[in-house]
Amino acid sequence: MTNKELTKEEKEERIKRLATVVCICKGIPLGKVLPAIKACDTVEDVNRMAGTGSGGCHGERCGPRIRMLLKKKHDLQDSRPATRDTASDKEE
Ligand code: FES
Repeated sequence: MTNKELTKEEKEERIKRLATVVCICKGIPLGKVLPAIKACDTVEDVNRMAGTGSGGCHGERCGPRIRMLLKKKHDLQDSRPATRDTASDKEE
């Protein structure tokens, strides 16, 4: 999907994500951190992937935000209903 195909609401959400800075020291916005949050389970891995945590405060300010985002991700995953994926489901 290109930018021209985005709805007005999608464009506003994208702008909001890019404007919200997670790592103040390095100026890294939420839009750059979210892919790392999706792919990683620890703050250290997010820092490695997104480049956060290596600024002047060494993660004192962005670390708690990243921990909160990881917790939200895990809470959402825990609240999803379990998927049925057993061998007996695949047999006919
Ligand atoms: S805010 Fe991220 S290293 Fe300081």
